[in-house]
Amino acid sequence: MEATSSAKEKMAFLPNHIAIIMDGNGRWAEQHGKSRFEGHVAGVESARSTIRYLNNKYHIKYLTFYGFSTENWARPESEVGGIFRIFEQILDKEAAELHQEGVRLLHLGRLEELPKGLQQVINRALELTRNNTGMTLGFCFNYGGRTEILDAVRHIITEGIPPQDIDEKLFDNYLYTAGSPDVDLLIRTGGELRISNFLVWQAAYSEYYFTDVLWPDFDEEEIEKALLSYKQRQRRFGGL
Ligand code: IPE
Ligand code: IPE
Ligand code: MG
Repeated sequence: MEATSSAKEKMAFLPNHIAIIMDGNGRWAEQHGKSRFEGHVAGVESARSTIRYLNNKYHIKYLTFYGFSTENWARPESEVGGIFRIFEQILDKEAAELHQEGVRLLHLGRLEELPKGLQQVINRALELTRNNTGMTLGFCFNYGGRTEILDAVRHIITEGIPPQDIDEKLFDNYLYTAGSPDVDLLIRTGGELRISNFLVWQAAYSEYYFTDVLWPDFDEEEIEKALLSYKQRQRRFGGL
């Protein structure tokens, strides 16, 4: 069936892949007289509602969240442990719901360095949702963009790939995101104007959207603002 012109427009202006740096949980907690741990709990709620909104209303095909960076190990052990605990406690239930919605989960990052219990729930979630054909939801946990590139290089060398065969397409397939397209829209909440080692390869030509809104406050209205901003961009990819 021929899509209506407004449906066509909607599709053309929507990003195929959105990636989000969920920053500002700690400052949000401070503003509300809560602990940083409670800030991360609120952050998880915000992630849940963002996933639903982008999936149900816009059918975004790829959504990738930055949840814990390779640099976040530098935080106090109690905070790191708290973040892992929150994630470990919600993931089974969350994965079951996402599975119902046809979402396929991906973990991006070094899984083997995470606590065993967390590794197990992540593996269960991946296994449960692996054949789903709806939204692909990437979760970057113990993720670093530079580490990802180094892991790809090691892998390529281990496989003995001849240098002349190494092009961008091949390299792409050795990244944690193998099979996912480049990021179209990269959102960072919390007011910092940097990418903090997130998807350095995949976001080389992304449109960036920075907002001062703290991650737990990032709601439907804020998502609409980001999508509207994206819609107004002119992507040239070096052309005219
Ligand atoms: C982002 O929020 C979540 C993680 C990095 C895990 P922060 O914890 O960095 O919050 P701020 O930047 O201190 O406000
Ligand atoms: C980036 O936020 C990492 C995540 C959101 C998981 P940070 O709060 O760790 O980044 P910096 O330290 O301000 O660059
Ligand atoms: Mg931060």
